Amino acid sequence: MTAVPPIDFAPEKGRDLTAAEGTLVVFADGKGKLGVAAKAIDKATGGALSRVVGDPEFKPRSGAVHRLAYPSGMAAKAVILACLGSAPDRGAARKTGGAVAKALGKGEVTVCTAGVASEPLIAELIWALALRLYDFRDYKTDGDENGDSGNGVTSGPRRVTVLARGARGLGRAFAPFAALAEGVFFTRDLVNEPANRLTTDEFAERLEDLRDLGVEVEVLGEAELEKLGARALLAVGQGSAAESKIVVMKWLGGKKKQAPLALVGKGVVFDTGGISIKPAGGMEEMTMDMGGAGVVAGVMRALALRKAAANVVGVVGLVENMPDAKAQRPGDIVKSMKGDTVEVINTDAEGRLVLCDALWYTQQSFKPRAIIDLATLTGAIVIALGHHNAGYYANDDGFAAEFAAAAEAAGDAAWRMPLGKPYAEQLKSRLADLKNVGGRAGGSVTAAEFLHRFVAEGTLWIHIDIAGVTLANGGTDLAPKGATGWGVAALDQLVRDKLEG
Ligand code: BES
Ligand code: MN
Ligand code: ZN
Repeated sequence: MTAVPPIDFAPEKGRDLTAAEGTLVVFADGKGKLGVAAKAIDKATGGALSRVVGDPEFKPRSGAVHRLAYPSGMAAKAVILACLGSAPDRGAARKTGGAVAKALGKGEVTVCTAGVASEPLIAELIWALALRLYDFRDYKTDGDENGDSGNGVTSGPRRVTVLARGARGLGRAFAPFAALAEGVFFTRDLVNEPANRLTTDEFAERLEDLRDLGVEVEVLGEAELEKLGARALLAVGQGSAAESKIVVMKWLGGKKKQAPLALVGKGVVFDTGGISIKPAGGMEEMTMDMGGAGVVAGVMRALALRKAAANVVGVVGLVENMPDAKAQRPGDIVKSMKGDTVEVINTDAEGRLVLCDALWYTQQSFKPRAIIDLATLTGAIVIALGHHNAGYYANDDGFAAEFAAAAEAAGDAAWRMPLGKPYAEQLKSRLADLKNVGGRAGGSVTAAEFLHRFVAEGTLWIHIDIAGVTLANGGTDLAPKGATGWGVAALDQLVRDKLEG
């Protein structure tokens, strides 16, 4: 597992910054005025930082950083001057934290935050910095290009020390962010894992480890799923040697009688497309097709670590979609757990088959007050929104607005998409109750309408298609290239606002 870098909080007062080793991070405000620590370093270096902020080319907006290597008069190997901009908000804090992380070299880091911003903003900045230092190295046996040793050792800084005026208070403000960082790292690790390693068995085992944190975990295998009649989900996995599963994770930190929020995730550990096989080019990316389940797992871990006062149930459908003599074929008709029959036109539209049973099982078993499902469901959402927004669908405007506010506050970009009868009608089947594809037009919407049919009237529901945001090929402000962990922060925020607030 990729470890979140250790972060310590200590008082800034009385520190001799000129003696600090590693990299020092100091700040200037939105007008380019140096903060306390920056001033001290400016003095020791004979005005090096004054020259930086005095340069008209240096714009002190949020996210601006300047790196001074081997500053004279200092023990540090580098000083980074960073800016939060004028009137910084959470977004500015995240952007700045991410920018600082990108500018860091290896070794220790000391971040001097006294007088820089409010505690919650500094906590958010440090969180963003930690997220951007994520580095998945489990399969590097001989280290990276910098000569670091591999096998789980990060090439980022070993230790982050945050100097502050009220170090204790800041440490307390940071605690929930530390939990959230652990959750995001968990999600990213699961998404980055190759499919030969992260089989359905291995995935279930990693989820079972959440028991150590007080999460109740239950694993349903093929025999149990057969008994429940989850034939749609089972049909997807029947061409694979890996056992199909549903894993239930319960965090019950709220009031006894409070009906839970349910999070449901698509966990296709590899999607070849099945008999409707995908083209070879880029197929390796389909190791991320368990991204929805990965987000659910990350949220559960974060909630448990911060002991959230909320009842949340996570349900993931774990399957592998393979072509094989036993695989389902185009034209097969399967009966879902709800009882509706589905004509499988395309075995590559497998996510909805997994989710329809997972959704039905969740409603039957836990009577949730609301359900949010997450899935790398369609290529069509990538055509619609690119990689900049997840697409979400909701059957209730109030719930949609609550989710939108949480996602916005947490920095996970999402755009609402429409539902509607005409889209549902594209799924009419000649032979069965419905078919699993509705044609090319509106491909993400018809997929959402497929799921909609499996949500009981009166249950609040949001479906999030995360196919475009689960991986970032060029990295983002807060994630290096690869898995982003999109959605963990948004859902944690929603739990805070809606269930704990
Ligand atoms: N897992 C894919 C969707 C996907 C595509 C995720 C690109 C991430 C990146 C899904 O199972 C799929 O194959 N969907 C098909 C549906 C089609 C057959 C109706 C698609 O989008 O092409
Ligand atoms: Mn598919
Ligand atoms: Zn898929």
